[in-house]
Amino acid sequence: SEALEPKNFGSGVLNIAHRGASGYAPEHTMIAYQIAGEMEADFLEIDVHMTSDDVLVAMHDEDVARTTDGEGFIQEMKHAEIDKLDAGSWFNQAYPDQADKRYEQVRVPKLTDIFDHFGTSTKYYIEIKNAASADLLLQTLEDYQLIEKNAVIIQSFDSAVLQKIYEQYPSLPLIQLLGKNKMLFANYKKIRKYAVGVGLPYQKLNQRLIRHLHRNGLLVHTYTVNDEADMKRLIEWGIDGIFTDYPDRLYDIKENR
Ligand code: G3P
Ligand code: CA
Repeated sequence: SEALEPKNFGSGVLNIAHRGASGYAPEHTMIAYQIAGEMEADFLEIDVHMTSDDVLVAMHDEDVARTTDGEGFIQEMKHAEIDKLDAGSWFNQAYPDQADKRYEQVRVPKLTDIFDHFGTSTKYYIEIKNAASADLLLQTLEDYQLIEKNAVIIQSFDSAVLQKIYEQYPSLPLIQLLGKNKMLFANYKKIRKYAVGVGLPYQKLNQRLIRHLHRNGLLVHTYTVNDEADMKRLIEWGIDGIFTDYPDRLYDIKENR
């Protein structure tokens, strides 16, 4: 049905670069997004947090320790402190096979750095990790005209924040994320009232559930799939989008390579 096909979101299964091409470069850095673009991902997946002085930055964890050389909670740090951090050297140490000199000293990007650099050459699949950042995020999307250009999907595990956004922006595509336990018992009819689809972990997904969700008018996206055999199976089952750290693998499967 039409409701299942947000326009201009690419053809076939959506290739969503999870934290950028994070299998090849330090997650949530400009170079990881750049590589994802080169691999022709349809969307850059970006987790967003807000600093104490109200700057939106791309990072998965609320704490900078895992992916930078610093420590502390983003919401308790000023942007100037975040901006000093090295967001790449950890990757070279953790993944010597993928290490690259270019990854040393890369910074934590502001959300606006990403929009300034990529413009509408890609689409953005943005996760609200903290409800407090939602208003500034929406204002930023408006400033960059990304909603009207149909260049963004918003995702969150927080259903309250999604429902609030739906009231303000009924045409902005929203994806309700669910974890392994909740996905089996969720009220999908209620989710369909505000969201165009759901994002579910692939491990407990099956064809029956995908069909059930499609019958309820929901798109089904799944995270985080890095193995080609899993990708192929999910595509056969009719999945609508796949979050992957290796967008080149999904690209090749879509192109039958
Ligand atoms: O956004 C989909 C997936 O990324 C959710 O898990 O922890 O990687 O943000 P996480
Ligand atoms: Ca995410």
